[in-house]
Amino acid sequence: MAGSRSAASELVSAAEPRRTGTVDHEGRTLAVTLACASRLALEADLGAERVADGTEFAHLEVALDGGPVRLGRCRFLAAPGSRGARGRLVFLDALHDCHAIVHDGRVADLHGAFRNLPLVLQQRERIRPEFERWVAGLVYDLSVWRRVLDDQDRLLEEEPLEVAAAAMDALLAAEGPGFLSFLDGKDRELDALVRGFGREEHERHGFYLRRMAWPFILSSEIHRRTNMKPRGYAGDAEMMRLLYEARAEGRGAFGRLLHSHAVQKPGAEAVRARRALVAAELHALDAALGRPAPFRFLSVACGPAFELRDTYRTRDDARRLEATLLDQDPQALEAARAAVEKVEAAHGPIRAVTLAESVRTMLRDRGLRDRLGRFHLVYSMGLFDYLTPPVAKAVLARLVDLLEPGGAVLVGNFHASQPSKVYMDYWMDWPLYYRTEESLLALAEGLPAHASLGFDPTRCQMFLRLERGR
Ligand SMILES: C[S@@+](CC[C@H](N)C(=O)[O-])C[C@H]1O[C@@H](n2cnc3c(N)ncnc32)[C@H](O)[C@@H]1O
Repeated sequence: MAGSRSAASELVSAAEPRRTGTVDHEGRTLAVTLACASRLALEADLGAERVADGTEFAHLEVALDGGPVRLGRCRFLAAPGSRGARGRLVFLDALHDCHAIVHDGRVADLHGAFRNLPLVLQQRERIRPEFERWVAGLVYDLSVWRRVLDDQDRLLEEEPLEVAAAAMDALLAAEGPGFLSFLDGKDRELDALVRGFGREEHERHGFYLRRMAWPFILSSEIHRRTNMKPRGYAGDAEMMRLLYEARAEGRGAFGRLLHSHAVQKPGAEAVRARRALVAAELHALDAALGRPAPFRFLSVACGPAFELRDTYRTRDDARRLEATLLDQDPQALEAARAAVEKVEAAHGPIRAVTLAESVRTMLRDRGLRDRLGRFHLVYSMGLFDYLTPPVAKAVLARLVDLLEPGGAVLVGNFHASQPSKVYMDYWMDWPLYYRTEESLLALAEGLPAHASLGFDPTRCQMFLRLERGR
């Protein structure tokens, strides 16, 4: 019955943000205090009033930042033990974002996407015919490959686990290269087909490809995650793990091969190259500065901090290096702590702190240097590719400001000509702020540090190095 899933322990605490509102009930207007119970339900407190579980109200009027707003029909689900004084309100005619109502004071209709449907459907009319034909051929070919590979999966299902695992390895080794070379060929065709497109055209055609290839995208671990973005952005710690470990992850042979194809692309290779590069930079600087104790370094947007395994090489490193790992995403920091534990298991205890913080907060903090201290090396990999020039410039200035004399900032950014760009945009829905040598160097203009540029071995990624005088 309505209200049966409510529980006192799920009710929001007094410290939670609240809104006031009214409902009409049996000819009277009742005041109600509202909090966010979940994305789709409001917590309602009727004070001294009592209402039966399951009661339907014709509307809820809620006081929002722009004034009172009348929302449609809702049902009251009484909280157990509250005798109808408290409970949840669920909407009956629309899906409202209750977090936005309470926390942001605005109405956000979760059905909004449906209103855009006609516009989105019309996009298909603006797809170039040759692209449409190419995608149709691609989808057909992929379906055939998938059918054959799925048949093999079904054979394996009947085998004991160890036999199935060995047979899967044999299948991937025997048939994988053929499928991967088919995919390589399709990538080359796609690159040629979209060369010269403008930004909007790329977006429209990429969207079309992803809609048509959606079942294939969902079959691969990395494609599914970059497209679904469960943490709200592409490049989360789990995606980085998939890239760093570069295994044939997933369940079926088809999905594993599609995943393998993506994590072997030059852009993914470039991500893995960062590990050794950062470690080498750190040790060169450490030696140049006479091995200070401690040698303090800061990783900005640290993600899973895989490079720590390359950075800490000896017990002396464990004793002298002091790591500060900053990221806005608590899950990324959890992964970074796991990396610290791996280092400690190999070399003994290290000094490492994690900071849950956005670089945007850093920009506002005038006492940043007092709070964080100074560092010999500050590096940021996989962050500037997401920042607009004004934000990137401002962040860079703050990072330089954190340097010890003789210290350095190292910032990675994918190059505008990196060969996996179309693949990342079209298949993975992973757009980046690509930069040229000039536009990356321009971020450092006017900063009190000597700027130079380097590349990783794949030449997909550039590194801006800023060295502060001693
Ligand atoms: C592509 S990953 C790179 C992770 C790591 N540096 C690496 O190279 O493996 C990007 C990371 O940036 C973090 N990030 C994105 N925007 C941020 C911001 N404004 N402040 C702090 N971290 C941010 C994300 O949470 C994510 O962990």
